[in-house]
Amino acid sequence: MSDAYAQLLAATIQHLEVLKSRGVRHVPVRPETLAALAGTPVKPAARPAPLSFAAPPAPAPAPRPVAAPRPVPPPTPAPPPAPAPVAPAPVVPPPPSVVVRAPVAIPAAGDRAAAFAELRQRALACVQCPNLVASRRQVVFGVGNEAAELMFVGEAPGVEEDAQGEPFVGPAGQMLTKMIGAMGLSRAQVYIGNVLKCRPDTPGQKFGNRPPTPEEMATCVPFLQAQIDLIRPRVLVALGASAMAGLLGHPVKITGVRGRWLDYRGIPLMPTFHPSYVLRQQEAAGGLAVKRQVWEDLLAAMAKLGLPISDKQRNYFLKA
Ligand code: URA
Repeated sequence: MSDAYAQLLAATIQHLEVLKSRGVRHVPVRPETLAALAGTPVKPAARPAPLSFAAPPAPAPAPRPVAAPRPVPPPTPAPPPAPAPVAPAPVVPPPPSVVVRAPVAIPAAGDRAAAFAELRQRALACVQCPNLVASRRQVVFGVGNEAAELMFVGEAPGVEEDAQGEPFVGPAGQMLTKMIGAMGLSRAQVYIGNVLKCRPDTPGQKFGNRPPTPEEMATCVPFLQAQIDLIRPRVLVALGASAMAGLLGHPVKITGVRGRWLDYRGIPLMPTFHPSYVLRQQEAAGGLAVKRQVWEDLLAAMAKLGLPISDKQRNYFLKA
């Protein structure tokens, strides 16, 4: 990508993010501008086409083996032409529970590694949440295979993740790592990301974590959406209520959705309990049942991916 193109793209994204923060949902964009951003020449048209903040529908994923090299996703299709708005949209802030889907920076050339590196740089330089910027040790972008078939989505970094710069490395992370191993996979084969890339601050507290606020999630989730758009996993597993709330843009009762396949922009999404909940329940009566529920959700993910499941795996965490 040329410097000029990168600058144009960065400036455009920044401008759109400012508009989005003011509640603007649509902006008029001339087809020539869209084409310039996409890097393809088109004939100028008489009327500007609106560029929507709504994410475009995802291309249908093709079946493929888990570890196989994968093609880079095609460039995001431009939205279909529609009548130009007569007057500028009124500046009305969206209700806090509504996530305005920001445009994702998928390069026209389809170079996933370069796009990922650029996205990581933008996340690392992000200063949108001043309280989190002031307290964070590092931005925790994500880890794993950028062409993974299976992607886990968590809530936010905790103390250990903030210190190490990697998601799910504390006690909950060790539980997740064991579950991934039980699936016959490694952390390097899957991708692990969070809704929030910075640790939620805990002013006045020396230890402990807090869940992200809806505003923090709405601010940060475009990074996760861009990661998902670049990876295009065949299966998403959401770990806990905050992960679901971040993805869907509204509060979710995890007990109401856990274990049921949902659709996230064309990708099968399996909501399950967060590993820290599994840890908390471990010693309690019924702790094994919770672990088994999570395991059944992961078995469903394995089946969806066409991974082999042995009898031993099928029977993990069943009562003796
Ligand atoms: N919990 C999360 O949701 N994410 C992490 O990275 C660590 C703990």
